[in-house]
Amino acid sequence: MKAPAEVVDRVRALRESIERCNYEYYALAAPTVPDSEYDRLFAELVDLETKYPQLVTLDSPTQRVGAAPLKEFAQVVHHMPMLSLNNAFNDDEVAAFDRRAREGLGTEEEIEYAVEPKFDGLAVGLTYEKGTLVSGATRGDGFTGEEVTANLRTIKVIPLRLPARGLPALFEVRGEVLILKRDFEKLNRLQRDKNEKEFANPRNAAAGSLRQLDSRITASRRLAFFAYGVGRAEGGALPRDKHSKLMDYLVQLRFPVASERKMVRGIKGLLDYYRRIGEKRDSLPYDIDGVVYKVNDFGLQEKLGFVARAPRFAMAHKFPAQEALTEVLDIQVQVGRTGALTPVARLKPVFVGGANVTNATLHNEDEVRRKDVWHGDMVVVRRAGDVIPEVVSVARKGPRRGGDYFKMPKQCPICHSKVVRSEDEAVARCSGGLFCPAQRKQALLHFASRRAMDIEGLGEKLVDQLVDNQVVKTPADLYKLGLTALANLERMAEKSAGNVLAAIAKSRRTTLPRFIYALGIRNVGEATAKGLARHFGSLDKLMQADAETLLQVQDVGPVVAQSIAQFFAERHNREVIKQMRGCGVSWAEGEGMPAKTASVVNGKTFVLTGTLSHLTREEAKERIEALGGNVSGSVSGKTDYVIAGADPGSKLAKAQELGVKILDEAGLLKLLGK
Ligand code: IVH
Repeated sequence: MKAPAEVVDRVRALRESIERCNYEYYALAAPTVPDSEYDRLFAELVDLETKYPQLVTLDSPTQRVGAAPLKEFAQVVHHMPMLSLNNAFNDDEVAAFDRRAREGLGTEEEIEYAVEPKFDGLAVGLTYEKGTLVSGATRGDGFTGEEVTANLRTIKVIPLRLPARGLPALFEVRGEVLILKRDFEKLNRLQRDKNEKEFANPRNAAAGSLRQLDSRITASRRLAFFAYGVGRAEGGALPRDKHSKLMDYLVQLRFPVASERKMVRGIKGLLDYYRRIGEKRDSLPYDIDGVVYKVNDFGLQEKLGFVARAPRFAMAHKFPAQEALTEVLDIQVQVGRTGALTPVARLKPVFVGGANVTNATLHNEDEVRRKDVWHGDMVVVRRAGDVIPEVVSVARKGPRRGGDYFKMPKQCPICHSKVVRSEDEAVARCSGGLFCPAQRKQALLHFASRRAMDIEGLGEKLVDQLVDNQVVKTPADLYKLGLTALANLERMAEKSAGNVLAAIAKSRRTTLPRFIYALGIRNVGEATAKGLARHFGSLDKLMQADAETLLQVQDVGPVVAQSIAQFFAERHNREVIKQMRGCGVSWAEGEGMPAKTASVVNGKTFVLTGTLSHLTREEAKERIEALGGNVSGSVSGKTDYVIAGADPGSKLAKAQELGVKILDEAGLLKLLGK
């Protein structure tokens, strides 16, 4: 049946609307229509295409759902080889790259570079004929790749059709397919639920998903794509002078391009960019393994040319690897402050994420089983930023004799109390409470930590000795310590003993939120402690509150309320608190409550950036919170004030961009009333 002209028009309009929705939803993360409306448009298009199959085209959004499995991938020879980049691992190698480029161009002047994140995914080329995506291939060995068009079509951020006006008749866009960190987590959760093997990292997940013979599987995974260049381009009016302009053009064509891309000058510009992206690395939505520097001017690129299989005009500056292989020498358990028993892999030392790692957490017994880690296995260890190193997966099984299998001990390795694990918890715990020296040590360390009572010098070694020699059993004992008891400890000189005592004495004068936090009540972190102090205003009131009253505190749910009530119901805990107060531990009651006088700070959100000279950041935070204000880590539309100290960071720029009120330190002090 021939399709009437109005159907042809309607099909075209529907496709445009659906692709606009896809772009807004997947690329911009800012949908403008509700899902139901999208579903309605999609259903209408499917309906029309079923009635008039001759209208189905390769670039229709209905073709993104995947097709029946292939037997194998076809091989494609790349029209222009997909080369690789030379790597730099330190500043000197970057300086050498910049020097060679200037020598090659015969100039002393600083070069303008286009700089971008180096995506940790897999490279593909997308070929468009007269604006329609006709084929897509993986990089393969650089010369021949695999044809994965059906799979690439399922990636919603890849345009299936480009506005043909001015476009080269044949046009190949190159970029990287990857999976966002949050989608990777979701995918692994799903794999786990289905009892299927999890992916070790987002790169493997992206590669595994793209190289599926059944494109319906690819369609079910949420893959992303970022463009970083153009391969073959015949005819048309592409920007041919600068890489940065070419990228702007790709943005216009609705290709996702890294928003962190920039232009910089000279070696300083390169290294500054490397540092800045390095700092942002953990907060980016996708994995990167470095940054890429490209001479921006295409004319200069051509002059520099290639050596072997890599360009002279570009270079990858890699971050230290966050993953490495090493051997599990043993699996032991560590007892934490709340008695949680954590299996920890003792490792053959390995350099990863910029540090030597000898221990990595295995989280809990279920994780050991799930990852199937045994003593003697070779494992992948990951250390990302400040996160505790963890065992990711087993790379090669060891000999696996009977004794190599990990079993959660039935008794606490420290105090021999019974180990218990409630049905709804993944964590096994020592039931010894503060009888257990390990828990006591952790509780003391927490009590003394910077954000709690802030006792300088009371570190792990000293706490070990104090507890092992039974000098200190509870935090209250700290306030009864004398110089002789301390100085008698091994390796403790009189002078440092004096310093520790002075630090303990100083900590007597504290604030209510700090004291509540220092008690180490399970599930009560710093923010909850502040909330409790603000709500009750006095420790006695908090101690008397029952679970129901506690539930009225903002952000306190049933689990937290229960922990708090249980803690204060314990006679031993009340006794320790009494002793501490008897030893002079005190705070101004009512401190931490919202100001009774209507302070302008009350209810306002502040962001601090740069260095302050009269207050530490911590002090500024406390003073703002004492007057009922909040301090947040990032600038958003909800921020009321940004306080800019010396050398402010990017938060200041963001504040300017959003028109948020900016104050200097003097302005803040004025608001605080001093
Ligand atoms: S440009 C001549 N830009 O890194 C090669 N590559 O080692 C031009 N990659 O296979 C590549 N992010 O998969 C370029 N912003 C970026 C990149 C990038 C990741 C990958 C790409 C390539 C490998 C080169």
